[in-house]
Amino acid sequence: MAESKSHLHHFRVWRGDDEKGDLVDYPVEVNEGEVVLDIIHRLQATEANDLAVRWNCKAGKCGSCSAEINGRPRLMCMTRMNTFAEDEVVTVTPLRTFPVIRDLVTDVSFNYTKAREIPSFQPPEGVEPGEYRMQQVDVERSQEFRKCIECYLCQNTCHVVRDHEENKEAFAGPRYLMRMAELDMHPLDAHGNRAVDAQEEHGLGMCNITKCCTEVCPEHIKITDNALIPMKERAVDRKYDPLVWLGSKIFKRSGA
Ligand code: SF4
Ligand code: SF4
Ligand code: FES
Repeated sequence: MAESKSHLHHFRVWRGDDEKGDLVDYPVEVNEGEVVLDIIHRLQATEANDLAVRWNCKAGKCGSCSAEINGRPRLMCMTRMNTFAEDEVVTVTPLRTFPVIRDLVTDVSFNYTKAREIPSFQPPEGVEPGEYRMQQVDVERSQEFRKCIECYLCQNTCHVVRDHEENKEAFAGPRYLMRMAELDMHPLDAHGNRAVDAQEEHGLGMCNITKCCTEVCPEHIKITDNALIPMKERAVDRKYDPLVWLGSKIFKRSGA
């Protein structure tokens, strides 16, 4: 039987709270096939019993284990240890954009606040749940956006808020601008003009399409190309072209 390989790896993990903290060095055993979250769990079980970390599924689906690994926002459970050289130091730090609660756990309530600011789907008047009908092509248009696991890696990475705390109030962030794009594409949504709202009330204009959000999305959603850029175009069309705006109203009504 082939022997499974194991080695000691140099980990550097951020320990502390919102007032003070530091990087702490740990040599820790790594076995074949393990991911960064396995190593963090081994640290908890051995050298650092009180290390705080948030996780749930260990399968890239709950979005809880987001952190920065060697400065790159990633899911710890989806980052394989064999992507690092054996002598490469692995540094694990909490998400930078949100306040630290303790160690690797951050307070992500900014995202819940932004989610609540978006009015939910509004069905057309006189159409009851169960009577909604839409074309498969319309279902598919926004299917990609519904793969979101709310890991907030995109929210954490976007430079509009990452280094600019003062922008947080005005900017919904890529995940929630994408939610607005999804609703804007919904043929039955009767809320009004989602694209113009996104532009005027949720900071779509602050996005300068750098695509950093897209690069870190573990679900490989093309946030910028498929949600944000088309919504920017629709916002401009609807705001400055009254015929397009009128046409979209009539189209939505006839689709209901
Ligand atoms: S594309 Fe827009 S939302 Fe995405 S990271 Fe860049 S500025 Fe932020
Ligand atoms: S869009 Fe992607 S990166 Fe952003 S919260 Fe959803 S899954 Fe995470
Ligand atoms: S533990 Fe669920 S995404 Fe990593």
